[in-house]
Amino acid sequence: MTDKIALVMGGGAGTGRATVMAFAAAGYQVVVADINEEGGQGTLDLLQSSDGEGIFVHANMGNTEDIRKVIQAARDTYGALHAVSNNAALGTPNKPITEIEEDEWDRCMGVTLKGVWLCLKYQLPLIEESGGGAIVNIASVSGMRGEAHQSAYAAAKGGVLTLSKAAAVEYAKRGVRVNTICPGGINTGGMQFYLKNMPEMRDKVMNAHAMGRLAEAEEIADAVVFLCSENASFITGHDLVVDGGALIRSNVLDL
Ligand SMILES: NC(=O)c1ccc[n+]([C@@H]2O[C@H](COP(=O)([O-])OP(=O)(O)OC[C@H]3O[C@@H](n4cnc5c(N)ncnc54)[C@H](O)[C@@H]3O)[C@@H](O)[C@H]2O)c1
Repeated sequence: MTDKIALVMGGGAGTGRATVMAFAAAGYQVVVADINEEGGQGTLDLLQSSDGEGIFVHANMGNTEDIRKVIQAARDTYGALHAVSNNAALGTPNKPITEIEEDEWDRCMGVTLKGVWLCLKYQLPLIEESGGGAIVNIASVSGMRGEAHQSAYAAAKGGVLTLSKAAAVEYAKRGVRVNTICPGGINTGGMQFYLKNMPEMRDKVMNAHAMGRLAEAEEIADAVVFLCSENASFITGHDLVVDGGALIRSNVLDL
């Protein structure tokens, strides 16, 4: 165990939970924050049963007071923060641009884009105060190429890419690196639910990735821990694509 402190926003399930466990394996004490009390507590139980140390804070990533509460908890419990994954996000129902309701757009933006900004606003000063560290914002390949029927989500994720670059420049000489990870499909609850209900889509989804499969949550988590580590000490403002070749896959050749 080191004296390094990590925070995972949306650490109660899927990629966030895997990231909590990967940070713990790398020696961090971990603040787990999630809107889902049961999920967040479940992650903390898992962490502690694997000899890890951490706390759980119930928080909505789209709410200022909740983000302040998370930062206060990190400050009160550990007095420092060194590594962060801002991982929670919210899409809309799948539908064309013309059919998205205004409140659906606002809810998606409120968590997926504004939530990341709120996190940066309160995390950056504490990391700087702690002597430096790194933030990884989880974006998506959808934020790079767009996504039909998930336009609000794709626009929000695109915003996360540019917001992260602004933060990276503002804090480059202040000891905080800021990067994003752009996953393709990940084998977590939402994707599993979708494939269970739309089994006819399974082959198409798998084949959308050059490797012919989804990422396991641990494969994204490992990339987060790498970007937060000293091995990535000269990497900032970078968008790391972790997508099994989804962006580069040829639609012409059936490889
Ligand atoms: N699953 C995919 O195929 C996929 C693909 C590309 C990008 N991503 C991105 O990866 C990240 C993780 O996705 P996942 O599939 O592991 O998610 P998940 O649904 O498995 O877990 C998300 C966690 O975030 C929590 N959460 C949701 N809204 C929150 C909020 N407002 N405040 C705090 N916590 C909240 C949930 O309770 C849950 O514990 C997201 O940013 C997602 O957009 C996922």
